[in-house]
Amino acid sequence: MVNEFEIKKQICDIGKRIYNQGMVAANDGNISVKLNEHEFLCTPTGVSKGFMTPEYICKVDENGKVIQANPGFKPSSEIKMHMRVYKERPDVNSVVHAHPIYATSFAIAGIPLTQPIMPEAVIALGCVPIAEYGTPSTEEIPDAVSKYLQYFDAVLLANHGALTYSDTLLNAYHKMESVEFYAKLLFNSRLLGGPKELSEEQVQRLYEIRRQFGLKGKHPANICLNNKNGEKSCHNCGGGCHSEAKENTNADSDVIAEITKRVLEQLNK
Ligand code: 13P
Repeated sequence: MVNEFEIKKQICDIGKRIYNQGMVAANDGNISVKLNEHEFLCTPTGVSKGFMTPEYICKVDENGKVIQANPGFKPSSEIKMHMRVYKERPDVNSVVHAHPIYATSFAIAGIPLTQPIMPEAVIALGCVPIAEYGTPSTEEIPDAVSKYLQYFDAVLLANHGALTYSDTLLNAYHKMESVEFYAKLLFNSRLLGGPKELSEEQVQRLYEIRRQFGLKGKHPANICLNNKNGEKSCHNCGGGCHSEAKENTNADSDVIAEITKRVLEQLNK
C-alpha cells in the first residue's frame, strides 16, 4: 500500500497540475483523498494549490474535523462538499474541485455539458449537469450536488466551477481535464457555427462500448437521472439534466439509484 507521505506528495503534484494548467487562479481549488472510512487527506484552505509541499496537507475525519494539521494550516473551506461525495459514493477515493475557464464559463452561463459531440467525451463523461448555485463553504453546495452523485462522476457548480471524483486521485484529476477539454471543444464548435452532434444511434454504440469495457463510475450508459418515458439517456433528453429531475416510478434505473442512496444513508447513520 502507498504510504501517507507518498499520497501527500501526489496531492501536491496534482495541485501543481491544476494550477499550471490554469484550472485555478491564486488560492482556488481543493483536492482530497480517502485513506480509509475515517481518515481523509485534504488540501489546506487559502493557499495556492500550485505551491504546496507535503506538510501543507491536512488530515480530517469523515465529518471534516481535523485529525492532524501543521501550525498555520486548516482544511479546505469546501471540506463539507468533499465529505458529501465520500458519504454518498462509497466507490469514490478522491475528489477534485477546480475552476477551469471553459467549464466554469458554461456553469456561469447555465449551459450543461450535454451535447454529444465526440466519442471520448461520450464514453468517458456522458453528460455533465449543473448543480444549483450554493454559497461556498456552506451545506448548500453539498445539498445541491447530492442529487447528481448517483448518476454522474462530474458536475458543474452553477456560477462557481467544477467537481470531479473517482476511484483514484489521478482518475479524479483526469476527469477534470476531460471536462475542461470537452467544454473547450463545445465552446469552439459553437463559435464555428454550432456542433454537428452525434446521432442517437452513434451515442448508443458508444454507450455499448463503455459497457463492454466495464468502465467504473456512474454514467448515463448505465443509469440516467432523466431516464424516463422511453428516453434512453441524457444525451437523448435535450440537456434535461439541468432541468428539475422528475420522479418516474417506471424507470428501473431511477428506482435502483434511490434505493442505493437510502440504504447508504441508513448505513451511515
Ligand atoms: P479553499 O482554499 O478553502 O479550499 O477554497 C478554494 C476554493 O476554490 C473555494 O471554492
